[in-house]
Amino acid sequence: MNQIRIAPSVLAWDLGDLGRAVDICVEGGADQVHLDVIDGHFAPNITFGPGTVKDLRRRCDLKFDTHLMIEEPSKYAEKFLDAGSDLLTFHAEVLDGRKFEELHALALRKGKEIGLAVKPFTELPGWAVERISDLGALVVMTVNPGFSGQSMDMSVMPKLERIRSLFSEEGVRTDIEIDGGVEPENVHEVVKRGGNVLVAGAGVYSKKDPVQAISHLRERANLAVKAT
Ligand code: DX5
Ligand code: ZN
Repeated sequence: MNQIRIAPSVLAWDLGDLGRAVDICVEGGADQVHLDVIDGHFAPNITFGPGTVKDLRRRCDLKFDTHLMIEEPSKYAEKFLDAGSDLLTFHAEVLDGRKFEELHALALRKGKEIGLAVKPFTELPGWAVERISDLGALVVMTVNPGFSGQSMDMSVMPKLERIRSLFSEEGVRTDIEIDGGVEPENVHEVVKRGGNVLVAGAGVYSKKDPVQAISHLRERANLAVKAT
């Protein structure tokens, strides 16, 4: 199994103080910073754009994992890559094989990785299965996109197991990122079923000590790895 990675989602912090959210990632020893971009069309919220990503980029060298929950990713992909995203994730619901290949080629030219996300009730489409080895991460959403602080939808677990089996059969070592409602209490379930990148919004930023919450999640995840 791939190494556990903790990815705090800054959406759960005060959006007027995102610099501090990134500093918390650094102080807590997070592996990557998860940046949720929402356009009010693909999901019912509006967050921030490439300008904000660019400004946050100056705060640290951590991997920037930008999750685009937007209707027209092809229009903005280059801007988010140039702003300093290292892994740029698109939703399978708004792509097809051809669009994916164009975005993948763009990311490769810029030396970046591309991720693919699926909403809780979306199965991995055929065109994505054929291209899993091109992915830097597959993001399995365990809440409906839009807001931090929702509870994890455990009905997604069988899909997670199917994806993990598919990756094992194909010998693919792509990260499987779990996004939505990750808390210390459910980390075991998620890791047991094959998730290795844990996105946590409220699971980090709503805790009394967010810096410490990052190591707490990592401890729980490592225990789960040992037990499997
Ligand atoms: C939801 C976002 C998530 C969210 C995670 O649309 O993609 O990344 O911020 O926050 P929690 O962990 O609080 O569900
Ligand atoms: Zn996200």
